[in-house]
Amino acid sequence: MKKTGWIIVNGNLTTNKFIDYAEMIQSAAQKRHMDVSIIKNNEILLDLSDRHPLGLHRQTYTLPDFVFFIDKDIYLAKYLEQLGIPVFNSSATIEMSDDKIQTYQKLTDIGIPIPHTIIAPKIYSTGILSDDYLQSIIHKLGLPLIVKEAFGSFGEQVYLVHEFKELKKLTNQLQGKPYLFQSYISSSHGRDLRLQVVGDKIIAGMERNNDQDFRANITNGGNMKPFTPDQKATNIAIAAAQAINADFAGVDLLFGQEDSYLVCEINANAHIRNLTECTSVDIADEMITYIEGKIR
Ligand SMILES: Nc1ncnc2c1ncn2[C@@H]1O[C@H](COP(=O)(O)OP(=O)(O)O)[C@@H](O)[C@H]1O
Ligand SMILES: [Mg+2]
Repeated sequence: MKKTGWIIVNGNLTTNKFIDYAEMIQSAAQKRHMDVSIIKNNEILLDLSDRHPLGLHRQTYTLPDFVFFIDKDIYLAKYLEQLGIPVFNSSATIEMSDDKIQTYQKLTDIGIPIPHTIIAPKIYSTGILSDDYLQSIIHKLGLPLIVKEAFGSFGEQVYLVHEFKELKKLTNQLQGKPYLFQSYISSSHGRDLRLQVVGDKIIAGMERNNDQDFRANITNGGNMKPFTPDQKATNIAIAAAQAINADFAGVDLLFGQEDSYLVCEINANAHIRNLTECTSVDIADEMITYIEGKIR
């Protein structure tokens, strides 16, 4: 029997990037003779009292053999898991990866190296941090330093701060949002590694370089070249992906002092177009093959 799958995408994020990712996975699945449809998260009625998910036109969906979850709607991911469908990545992994604070807490707990990180206190929408507090951050981390929102992507919620006044202004603006302070890894200025983990292997890697910005993200103008990780980088990236039980993860590493690496973030929903083109590795096929092995 043909295996069936759903690729869940966000109904409101219809930018090409997300559709492209979904279509790459869909065509890899079709090549392996699976019947896979792309479904928007807001086309399913997430009715907790009904174990047969309904579409908006009251059609009942036949449950698939697996779900490839490109979205961050963890409630939907969990609902599908509770119906007994294997979901890749799991709701718990997506939730952990989405929140950089939770990710860093998990990584430090098991001894995986990250930049020196201090979590901003949760003070809700009306509080501001005292000058004493901010001075102690500067004292601990030095200047410049990084401020990073817990939720963000494409480098858009990551800030490089050069002086006290800037720190004060930024933290005032971030009131009510979860964020963290981090030491700025100058040896990695505008440069990082993206390593793609599938199961317990690294299947592709690239180095990203940006001479216009401290952030290496391609969307900020970075360029890329294939990178074959040494044993140290390999071990860290795989341990990081396993720390959040990821089936698939785009692990980003920063270059530390003396050939060391630090985990910058773990993307449970890493887009694969750039890395695929950079390395010529068929990442979508590797992912589908992995899923095939899991649902057999
Ligand atoms: N502590 C740091 N020191 C130096 N550069 C950093 C640091 N943290 C992040 N960066 C740079 O900023 C980029 C974006 O940060 P990241 O945490 O990966 O957020 P995003 O999820 O938005 O990609 C990274 O790829 C890296 O180039
Ligand atoms: Mg990143």
